[in-house]
Amino acid sequence: MDTRPIGIFDSGVGGLTVADKVFRLLPNENIIYFGDTARVPYGNKSKEAVTRFSKEIVKFLSGFKVKLIIVACNTASSLSLEALKKEFSIPIIGVIKPGVEEALKTSKTGRIGVIGTERTISSNVYKKEIESTGRNSFIIQESCPLFVPLVENGWLSGDITLEIVRRNLAPLLARDIDTLILGCTHYPLLKKAIQRIAGKNVALIDSSIATAKYTKRLLDNKNLFADALAKAGKRGMGYAKFFVSDDTGNFIRLANIFLRRNIKAKKVVF
Ligand code: DGL
Repeated sequence: MDTRPIGIFDSGVGGLTVADKVFRLLPNENIIYFGDTARVPYGNKSKEAVTRFSKEIVKFLSGFKVKLIIVACNTASSLSLEALKKEFSIPIIGVIKPGVEEALKTSKTGRIGVIGTERTISSNVYKKEIESTGRNSFIIQESCPLFVPLVENGWLSGDITLEIVRRNLAPLLARDIDTLILGCTHYPLLKKAIQRIAGKNVALIDSSIATAKYTKRLLDNKNLFADALAKAGKRGMGYAKFFVSDDTGNFIRLANIFLRRNIKAKKVVF
């Protein structure tokens, strides 16, 4: 048993989708969340920049003696996970592998769609991860740069949102996918709109849920649960502390959309 906290980080508020699922599945775990609100978005930044930011954040989280770090951001997972694993000895996981595992379990035809930020899609990381399993598959990808601003402005439904979703999904739906990976922290909040456009024959893979389940398995395997209750999934007393790199106001407002509750956050400067 290990009461050290789990560090979770993202370019901003989006990683709260992952944190939320971790809170629910592992309620006894202590969480330190960092949102890089001063430098968001990561989705259109270079690999070098995102890797530099990610390394700084891992150093910050290491100061809390974390037992595990979850890179909740799809873009940072795509561009920087390997570099982080090389540089730091703390166990670090990203959101790509858990999402891919879930997609491969779900897909019957192997025709899998992936949506994400520009950088996640151009990195081809999902495609490579799926192909590395040797499974016979056909992967089609599309970046959806308007989805993040839609979510951050609370436009989760309505005609305009549905039309934007329709246009972005059209190339994927035209290729008969049966599974769609939501490869960005924000997209789970658009799930209803995406499902409506994709239709009931397309299974949506929410990598935030997949990552929380993956985390639980990992803690179990390494005997790292905070206490015995966690294993049974009982209601627990874990704490969550939130840190951001810019003023807290916008983060706290958006956290309400993501977590449906009020939180406190602290600004830190590295
Ligand atoms: N968190 C990012 C991701 O999952 C989306 C927002 C951003 O571009 O920073 O890719």
